[in-house]
Amino acid sequence: MRIDIITVLPELLKSPFEASILKRAIEKELVEVHFHNLRDYVTDNYKQIDDYQFGGGAGMVMMIEPIDKCIAQLKSERTYDEVIYMTPDGETLDQGIANTMSLKENIIILCGHYKGVDQRVRDQFITKEISIGDYVLSGGELGAAVFCDAVIRLLPGVLNDETSALTDSFQDNLLAPPVYTRPSEYKGWKVPEILLSGNFPKIEEWREQQAYERTKTRRPDLLED
Ligand code: ADE
Repeated sequence: MRIDIITVLPELLKSPFEASILKRAIEKELVEVHFHNLRDYVTDNYKQIDDYQFGGGAGMVMMIEPIDKCIAQLKSERTYDEVIYMTPDGETLDQGIANTMSLKENIIILCGHYKGVDQRVRDQFITKEISIGDYVLSGGELGAAVFCDAVIRLLPGVLNDETSALTDSFQDNLLAPPVYTRPSEYKGWKVPEILLSGNFPKIEEWREQQAYERTKTRRPDLLED
């Protein structure tokens, strides 16, 4: 998989890809992540990427020209499955979207800023708009990092134990069951007896029950469909 991220703040985006699982995925060449600074696609001397909106109103809007140039350059080099715009009014990211996106070959992610982007960018270039939740961030960069983390960890070979993404919370519309490790008793707080029993079919049954109960109390909406 290849991900090209278009941003006005590449420095804000880089560190999540320089540690832990994402770093290892890149080193193992399971994913390529490229950052494109929008200012490199500006032709005027002021390196201007935003401007006032027609019709008046507070806030600046990202201009179409540098974005068009950047996307056109990338599209001249390869074909893309999706051009994603990170925006608070997009479709809310969930595990299903992450699963679908992890099957794509090449994607572009455009990080929004200011009061958003010229609508013609959305109309002409964007194939999918994604929000990471119902709150407004200062820009799409942290949203893009969250999106990339959720997608990249699903790529074959990224997680050491191939099954572990399959047992993540949300994968079957259930939250994960509680987990414990050593010591089996700490300050009098005990690990549930069943987990120490060695009876694996019973343990599996207990985990399923716990996952269901946890989902029912915390996220009943997940059990609806
Ligand atoms: N840009 C600003 N807020 C955002 C959000 N909630 N999700 C994705 N991109 C954003």
